[in-house]
Amino acid sequence: MLSGIATDTHPVPSKGKEELIREINLLRKERNAVILAHYYQDPEIQDIADFIGDSLELSRKAESTNADVIVFCGVHFMAETAKIICPNKEVLLPDLDAGCTLADDCPSEEFADFCSKYPNHFVISYINCSAAVKAQSDLICTSSNAVDLVKQLPKETPILFAPDKNLGRWVERESGRKLICWQGSCSVHETFSEEALLKLKLQYPEAEILAHPECQENLLELSDFIGSTSKLLKQVEISSSETFIILTEPGIIHQMRISMPLKKFIEVPGLDGCSCNSCPYMRLNTLDKVLNCLTNMSPKIQLDKKLIKDAYLPIKKMLDMSN
Ligand code: 13P
Ligand code: SF4
Repeated sequence: MLSGIATDTHPVPSKGKEELIREINLLRKERNAVILAHYYQDPEIQDIADFIGDSLELSRKAESTNADVIVFCGVHFMAETAKIICPNKEVLLPDLDAGCTLADDCPSEEFADFCSKYPNHFVISYINCSAAVKAQSDLICTSSNAVDLVKQLPKETPILFAPDKNLGRWVERESGRKLICWQGSCSVHETFSEEALLKLKLQYPEAEILAHPECQENLLELSDFIGSTSKLLKQVEISSSETFIILTEPGIIHQMRISMPLKKFIEVPGLDGCSCNSCPYMRLNTLDKVLNCLTNMSPKIQLDKKLIKDAYLPIKKMLDMSN
């Protein structure tokens, strides 16, 4: 399923946290490596990262880094995007099984069939997709720039949007443009319970509800502010509210607490009260695995040259259009 290849790994025996961090720090210097982490990583991974960001910021960071090695603490499509942007750098993903249901929901052959049914349509794909899907797209977007990019397209341009139907519906609403959407979704954001949210709203009537646009429509309608992970963090910083109900993966709350230690943040449980609001793929990365990948320079992302070339064009277009 995943296109990165693991070779010759020598697992690092488990060590104490302090020792792991000390060894990671030595190796990151020795290898001239940068550690990029998404907000959904475990707090201990966020704490050792050189840079933490949303998908757009992480792509920009990959584009601008002088490091020879990028350790991408996120999921596969993010590390793959970094490799496409920086084909001459080594891009390591601490756990190659860190996938994404949205990317998996959109196999490239089926996507090609879908696109062929709508000739003359402009194809926008959310960055949460495989390199093979990116290569078939005209433009990539993230949750942070999707509305703005769609608004920049000429009014008469018909648009296909993939793979997230929830993000697509929200972009349609915000941009006033009609989108033909692929029907994929994120298994994590789809588990939030409306009932649990309404109970929390009764318990904390003064709380501001912040949601990621991958949430379902009924939850987005109950929200006060919708945006990418970075935008949610920014909102916590600029809002006069003291209490926030967070409708996204709770890893982001770590940075919210660091930035606004006196404010209160409440997670929304999933359906049946489960804690499945944590992304099981994002959480596969651990300090052990970060040290392991820096030691062995593996698992690394490896992509075909032609695929890199084709997938780069719509990413570059996004970076240029969202300046
Ligand atoms: P952001 O770009 O908002 O960080 O989202 C990435 C993601 O995978 C959300 O589930
Ligand atoms: Fe993919 Fe959802 Fe996890 Fe984001 S939270 S990486 S969309 S499975």
